[in-house]
Amino acid sequence: MKRIAIFASGSGSNAENIIRFFSDSAEIKVVSVLTNNPNAKVIERAKKLNISFKIFNKFDLNESEEFLSFLVDEVDYVILAGFLWLFPKRIIEKFPQRIINIHPALLPKYGGKGMFGMNVHRAVIDNQEKETGITIHYVNENYDEGAIIFQEKVPIELNDTPDSIADKIHQLEYKYFPKVIESVILKDEF
Ligand code: GAR
Repeated sequence: MKRIAIFASGSGSNAENIIRFFSDSAEIKVVSVLTNNPNAKVIERAKKLNISFKIFNKFDLNESEEFLSFLVDEVDYVILAGFLWLFPKRIIEKFPQRIINIHPALLPKYGGKGMFGMNVHRAVIDNQEKETGITIHYVNENYDEGAIIFQEKVPIELNDTPDSIADKIHQLEYKYFPKVIESVILKDEF
Protein backbone atom coordinates (compact mmCIF):
# COMPACT_ATOMS: atom_id res chain seq x y z
CA MET A 1 0.00 0.00 0.00
CA LYS A 2 1.44 3.36 -1.04
CA ARG A 3 0.60 6.23 1.30
CA ILE A 4 -0.13 9.78 0.09
CA ALA A 5 -0.07 13.08 1.97
CA ILE A 6 -1.90 15.99 0.34
CA PHE A 7 -0.76 19.56 0.93
CA ALA A 8 -3.39 22.27 0.33
CA SER A 9 -3.68 25.92 1.32
CA GLY A 10 -7.31 26.76 0.60
CA SER A 11 -10.57 25.20 -0.48
CA GLY A 12 -9.19 21.75 -1.11
CA SER A 13 -11.72 20.61 -3.69
CA ASN A 14 -8.93 18.73 -5.47
CA ALA A 15 -7.87 17.19 -2.18
CA GLU A 16 -11.41 15.95 -1.59
CA ASN A 17 -11.64 14.59 -5.11
CA ILE A 18 -8.36 12.69 -4.71
CA ILE A 19 -9.37 11.31 -1.31
CA ARG A 20 -12.66 10.04 -2.74
CA PHE A 21 -10.97 8.56 -5.81
CA PHE A 22 -8.63 6.41 -3.69
CA SER A 23 -11.11 5.59 -0.92
CA ASP A 24 -11.71 2.07 -2.30
CA SER A 25 -8.21 1.46 -3.59
CA ALA A 26 -6.26 -1.54 -2.34
CA GLU A 27 -2.97 -0.02 -3.51
CA ILE A 28 -3.07 3.68 -2.67
CA LYS A 29 -4.33 5.47 0.41
CA VAL A 30 -4.49 9.14 1.37
CA VAL A 31 -3.22 9.13 4.95
CA SER A 32 -3.00 12.82 5.75
CA VAL A 33 -4.00 16.33 4.71
CA LEU A 34 -1.51 19.07 5.58
CA THR A 35 -2.21 22.77 5.47
CA ASN A 36 -0.39 26.00 6.31
CA ASN A 37 -3.74 27.78 6.70
CA PRO A 38 -5.73 27.24 9.92
CA ASN A 39 -8.84 28.66 8.20
CA ALA A 40 -8.61 26.55 5.06
CA LYS A 41 -11.79 24.80 3.99
CA VAL A 42 -9.70 21.72 3.28
CA ILE A 43 -9.69 21.07 7.04
CA GLU A 44 -13.49 20.69 7.05
CA ARG A 45 -13.25 18.40 4.07
CA ALA A 46 -10.63 16.20 5.78
CA LYS A 47 -12.77 15.97 8.92
CA LYS A 48 -15.85 15.05 6.90
CA LEU A 49 -13.90 12.32 5.10
CA ASN A 50 -12.21 11.02 8.24
CA ILE A 51 -8.70 11.78 7.08
CA SER A 52 -6.25 13.01 9.67
CA PHE A 53 -4.95 16.53 9.15
CA LYS A 54 -2.09 18.68 10.37
CA ILE A 55 -1.70 22.46 10.43
CA PHE A 56 1.91 23.56 10.09
CA ASN A 57 3.89 26.77 9.93
CA LYS A 58 6.98 27.92 8.03
CA PHE A 59 9.32 26.56 10.70
CA ASP A 60 7.71 23.11 10.55
CA LEU A 61 8.00 22.97 6.78
CA ASN A 62 11.48 24.39 6.42
CA GLU A 63 13.32 23.42 9.60
CA SER A 64 11.55 21.03 11.96
CA GLU A 65 13.14 17.57 12.18
CA GLU A 66 9.92 16.23 13.63
CA PHE A 67 7.92 17.38 10.62
CA LEU A 68 10.44 15.85 8.21
CA SER A 69 10.48 12.56 10.13
CA PHE A 70 6.70 12.45 10.10
CA LEU A 71 6.71 12.65 6.30
CA VAL A 72 9.58 10.23 5.79
CA ASP A 73 8.10 7.66 8.18
CA GLU A 74 4.42 7.92 7.31
CA VAL A 75 4.26 8.85 3.63
CA ASP A 76 5.45 7.51 0.26
CA TYR A 77 4.19 10.29 -2.04
CA VAL A 78 3.43 13.97 -1.52
CA ILE A 79 0.72 15.64 -3.59
CA LEU A 80 0.46 19.43 -3.79
CA ALA A 81 -3.13 20.36 -4.61
CA GLY A 82 -3.49 24.13 -4.35
CA PHE A 83 -0.48 24.52 -2.05
CA LEU A 84 0.98 28.02 -2.22
CA TRP A 85 4.33 27.96 -0.42
CA LEU A 86 7.62 27.05 -2.03
CA PHE A 87 8.43 23.44 -1.21
CA PRO A 88 11.80 23.10 0.57
CA LYS A 89 14.82 21.31 -0.81
CA ARG A 90 15.25 19.23 2.35
CA ILE A 91 11.91 17.47 1.73
CA ILE A 92 12.36 17.24 -2.05
CA GLU A 93 15.65 15.40 -1.48
CA LYS A 94 13.89 12.76 0.61
CA PHE A 95 11.18 12.20 -2.02
CA PRO A 96 12.92 12.02 -5.40
CA GLN A 97 10.28 12.06 -8.18
CA ARG A 98 7.66 11.47 -5.52
CA ILE A 99 6.27 14.99 -5.06
CA ILE A 100 3.65 16.00 -7.63
CA ASN A 101 2.02 19.41 -8.12
CA ILE A 102 -0.90 20.58 -10.21
CA HIS A 103 -0.80 23.99 -11.85
CA PRO A 104 -3.86 25.64 -13.43
CA ALA A 105 -2.18 26.70 -16.70
CA LEU A 106 -0.08 25.32 -19.52
CA LEU A 107 3.43 25.60 -18.08
CA PRO A 108 5.96 27.01 -18.78
CA LYS A 109 3.48 29.84 -19.40
CA TYR A 110 1.86 31.49 -16.38
CA GLY A 111 4.05 29.85 -13.74
CA GLY A 112 6.32 31.16 -11.01
CA LYS A 113 5.93 33.01 -7.74
CA GLY A 114 2.57 34.72 -7.33
CA MET A 115 1.02 32.73 -10.18
CA PHE A 116 -1.68 30.76 -8.46
CA GLY A 117 -5.44 30.34 -8.66
CA MET A 118 -7.34 33.36 -9.98
CA ASN A 119 -4.13 35.32 -10.68
CA VAL A 120 -3.36 32.79 -13.38
CA HIS A 121 -6.83 32.94 -14.93
CA ARG A 122 -6.84 36.75 -14.95
CA ALA A 123 -3.44 36.83 -16.67
CA VAL A 124 -4.61 34.35 -19.30
CA ILE A 125 -7.64 36.55 -20.11
CA ASP A 126 -5.59 39.77 -20.07
CA ASN A 127 -3.23 38.25 -22.63
CA GLN A 128 -6.14 37.16 -24.86
CA GLU A 129 -4.99 33.56 -24.92
CA LYS A 130 -7.04 31.21 -27.10
CA GLU A 131 -6.51 28.25 -24.80
CA THR A 132 -5.42 27.35 -21.31
CA GLY A 133 -5.21 24.09 -19.36
CA ILE A 134 -3.63 22.13 -16.56
CA THR A 135 -0.11 20.91 -15.93
CA ILE A 136 0.78 18.07 -13.58
CA HIS A 137 4.49 18.01 -12.82
CA TYR A 138 7.17 16.80 -10.44
CA VAL A 139 8.27 19.37 -7.90
CA ASN A 140 11.77 20.79 -7.82
CA GLU A 141 13.21 23.71 -5.87
CA ASN A 142 11.73 26.40 -8.12
CA TYR A 143 8.07 27.30 -8.46
CA ASP A 144 6.43 25.36 -11.33
CA GLU A 145 9.65 24.23 -13.01
CA GLY A 146 9.86 20.48 -12.38
CA ALA A 147 9.53 17.91 -15.17
CA ILE A 148 6.08 17.82 -16.75
CA ILE A 149 4.11 14.58 -16.41
CA PHE A 150 0.82 15.53 -18.07
CA GLN A 151 -0.98 18.47 -19.69
CA GLU A 152 -4.51 18.93 -21.00
CA LYS A 153 -5.89 21.97 -22.83
CA VAL A 154 -9.24 23.72 -22.89
CA PRO A 155 -10.29 26.45 -25.35
CA ILE A 156 -11.06 29.98 -24.12
CA GLU A 157 -14.29 31.41 -25.54
CA LEU A 158 -14.97 35.13 -26.10
CA ASN A 159 -17.38 35.32 -23.17
CA ASP A 160 -15.10 33.52 -20.69
CA THR A 161 -14.21 35.28 -17.43
CA PRO A 162 -11.59 34.38 -14.82
CA ASP A 163 -14.39 32.63 -12.87
CA SER A 164 -15.62 30.60 -15.82
CA ILE A 165 -12.06 29.60 -16.64
CA ALA A 166 -11.51 28.56 -13.03
CA ASP A 167 -14.54 26.27 -13.38
CA LYS A 168 -13.27 24.75 -16.61
CA ILE A 169 -9.85 24.20 -15.06
CA HIS A 170 -11.32 22.57 -11.97
CA GLN A 171 -13.29 20.16 -14.17
CA LEU A 172 -10.07 19.12 -15.93
CA GLU A 173 -8.30 18.78 -12.59
CA TYR A 174 -11.02 16.56 -11.13
CA LYS A 175 -11.02 14.38 -14.22
CA TYR A 176 -7.27 13.88 -14.63
CA PHE A 177 -5.33 14.54 -11.43
CA PRO A 178 -6.28 11.37 -9.50
CA LYS A 179 -5.73 9.17 -12.57
CA VAL A 180 -2.32 10.69 -13.26
CA ILE A 181 -1.30 10.23 -9.61
CA GLU A 182 -2.44 6.62 -9.79
CA SER A 183 -0.52 5.90 -12.98
CA VAL A 184 2.70 7.47 -11.65
CA ILE A 185 2.51 5.50 -8.41
CA LEU A 186 1.58 2.17 -9.96
CA LYS A 187 4.37 2.44 -12.56
CA ASP A 188 7.00 3.25 -9.93
CA GLU A 189 9.12 0.47 -8.58
CA PHE A 190 10.75 2.15 -5.66
C1 GAR B 1 -6.36 24.58 -8.30
O1 GAR B 1 -6.93 25.08 -9.48
C2 GAR B 1 -4.87 24.38 -8.48
O2 GAR B 1 -4.49 24.05 -9.79
C3 GAR B 1 -4.34 25.73 -8.12
O3 GAR B 1 -5.12 26.16 -7.02
C4 GAR B 1 -6.44 25.61 -7.17
C5 GAR B 1 -6.84 24.99 -5.85
O4 GAR B 1 -8.19 24.62 -5.89
N1 GAR B 1 -2.93 25.66 -7.77
C6 GAR B 1 -2.09 26.65 -8.01
O5 GAR B 1 -2.44 27.72 -8.48
C7 GAR B 1 -0.63 26.36 -7.63
N2 GAR B 1 0.25 27.32 -8.22
P1 GAR B 1 -8.79 23.68 -4.74
O6 GAR B 1 -8.29 24.21 -3.40
O7 GAR B 1 -10.27 23.80 -4.87
O8 GAR B 1 -8.29 22.28 -4.99
